[in-house]
Amino acid sequence: IKHLLGLKGVSHDDITTILDTADTFHEVLQREVKVVPPLRGKTVVNFFYENSTRTRLSFEMAEKRLSANPLNFSTSGSSVSKGETLKDTIQNIEAMKIDMIVVRHQSAGIPLFLTTCTDAVIINAGDGYNEHPTQALLDIMTIRQRLRRLEGLKVTIVGDILHSRVARSNIWGMKTLGMNVTLCAPSTLLPHDHDALGCPCTTDVNDALEDADVIMLLRPQLERQQRGLFPSVREYRSFFGIDAEKMKRAQKNALIMHPGPINRGVELASDVADSDNSLILDQVTNGVATRMAVLYLLGGGDNVQ
Ligand code: CP
Repeated sequence: IKHLLGLKGVSHDDITTILDTADTFHEVLQREVKVVPPLRGKTVVNFFYENSTRTRLSFEMAEKRLSANPLNFSTSGSSVSKGETLKDTIQNIEAMKIDMIVVRHQSAGIPLFLTTCTDAVIINAGDGYNEHPTQALLDIMTIRQRLRRLEGLKVTIVGDILHSRVARSNIWGMKTLGMNVTLCAPSTLLPHDHDALGCPCTTDVNDALEDADVIMLLRPQLERQQRGLFPSVREYRSFFGIDAEKMKRAQKNALIMHPGPINRGVELASDVADSDNSLILDQVTNGVATRMAVLYLLGGGDNVQ
């Protein structure tokens, strides 16, 4: 693959290569000297039209760990505010001789569009509610790291699946790897194309938690909902918010994941978020190694050491 636009259609072998390479970089990041040379001389533009904490910082850290030169672009403070188009913006940046673009945008399909405007390698860092492939890769890496296997595991995703690019990328990636994904949300927040996604869907959270090896919570994405959250935040918390009481329905060792940012006390209670079964900060840690792997493999890096 030349670009990473999503996990839909990416093969089992390609996903496994990325995960294995991420494991190698995870080892590198345990060393005292964490910087390795493979992307020396390459320039990577972090092209963010939407806010981000984890993805933006971990891409920048991954680029620095690989000895690349990061160039950070965000809309605030740029000439986008003067009406410059996306195409003109990217072609002006490309004219400065860059190699790769990591793009986050509020509209689905923008990473694909950029492949028609530039020769640079494009990596999707989240486009609307389409895909967020590096998030899913770091999620899968984290599960494999903890449970030492993937095939046959049951992952239940609870939350605003309709608007979630994280859910979509995880569904494509996990199904390719032989994992079983169940979706749980109020009917208003289940995707309209859930048949096409090929996963069982339920509105009964107690059913969904039973037998799950991994429970992944998603926040209600109020910024993408046109009429506000329905049901209300109070009802949402009561029926779908995961707390210690609801966790009694899950397996004792069920793992808790969340891509962040968490709305504590809405989709996830603090005592569950901070429990020993929570992988939430491991996900963030693994974001750096996963993004190093993607940048390295697409950037034509050679010597990992
Ligand atoms: N998980 C995730 O994409 O977080 P940010 O929006 O902070 O990057």
